[in-house]
Amino acid sequence: MFSLGRAFVPAATRAFSTSAPRSTKVAVLGAAGGIGQPLSLLLKQSPLISQLSLYDIVNTPGVAADIAHINTDSKVTGYTPENNGLATALKDSHIVVIPAGVPRKPGMTRDDLFNTNAGIVRDLAIACAEHCPKAHILVISNPVNSTVPIVAEVFKKKGAFDPRRLFGVTTLDVVRASRFVSELKGVSCEDAKVTVVGGHSGVTIVPLLSQVPNGITIAETGAETEALIKRIQFGGDEVVKAKDGKGSATLSMAFAGARFTQSLLRATVGKETGVVEPTFVQSPVMADKGVEYFATNVELGPDGVKNIQGLGSLSASEEKLIEAAVPELQKNIAKGVAFVNGSD
Ligand code: NAI
Repeated sequence: MFSLGRAFVPAATRAFSTSAPRSTKVAVLGAAGGIGQPLSLLLKQSPLISQLSLYDIVNTPGVAADIAHINTDSKVTGYTPENNGLATALKDSHIVVIPAGVPRKPGMTRDDLFNTNAGIVRDLAIACAEHCPKAHILVISNPVNSTVPIVAEVFKKKGAFDPRRLFGVTTLDVVRASRFVSELKGVSCEDAKVTVVGGHSGVTIVPLLSQVPNGITIAETGAETEALIKRIQFGGDEVVKAKDGKGSATLSMAFAGARFTQSLLRATVGKETGVVEPTFVQSPVMADKGVEYFATNVELGPDGVKNIQGLGSLSASEEKLIEAAVPELQKNIAKGVAFVNGSD
């Protein structure tokens, strides 16, 4: 099996080389984009994938031809809309990862992307429901708080909705949180494990810093903690600003998306137990507050979502952060539902 030099391979990627090979098709929609290309590159390293199916409205033949030369065993195929490309790309897919759509420019919120991305995600979801209704759908396209409900409503209309198989990818929030805590406290990222709950935009991103393990203590209040929380909530803005009009996080997002996809493959195809990832799913955790979708740590199993973990014990400040997230989440979710169904 192809293996990169260990020094170059991050922990999540190293896991790719340890599992047994199986036969599994994974489709990436938006595969020629800023996220799509490095994500596809990372997925090419997974021995749990037998076919990597790359779809975009442009440039996929080139991306697929390039990635296909990497000497790992999976077959790579590229499709554009011509010749019924989307249907062929999706047929028999076990997982569909969706990073299709436009990214933010400086000054934009993720919700500002709604007008463009909602229609793209809806149309791709319709195709998924028609051509691979049993696939696990991993939504990266923003605003995730709204695009996940859009996919759910499309699948409901088609009679194909299985809440265990629909995921908003919020992995980047925990990846960032871990890195920021490790920098601040001078500890290894391996030890700086941060649970992040809520959604994937601004104040809906709620890090539970009181639960950071391994003896790493973070004060409940104070300027340092406030700055850390703000950095975790608005970390994406740092990248948008630094890229200065050329897009948002792509490389770190590809890393996070590949980690989540590989975790799901380990649980579904590899039948590994105890695989836990944070993700935005249909969830009972905040249902009594009228929030139907919510991100927490979720144990993944053979059918996707196996066990949605609760919030655990919260500090008073964390309770307040969650309170602040609730109305925003309600609004974002309702907007996605209304987009498919025509009204609130
Ligand atoms: P990009 O513009 O570089 O790539 C998007 C790709 O989607 C392009 O290649 C484009 O041709 C393709 N596309 C557009 N319409 C399509 C359609 N109907 N079918 C298939 N492909 C289509 O954008 P980038 O940077 O890759 O970002 C993609 C999305 O991911 C954005 O919505 C961005 O906000 C989101 N994102 C999500 C994150 C998360 O944590 N969930 C983090 C960072 C970005």
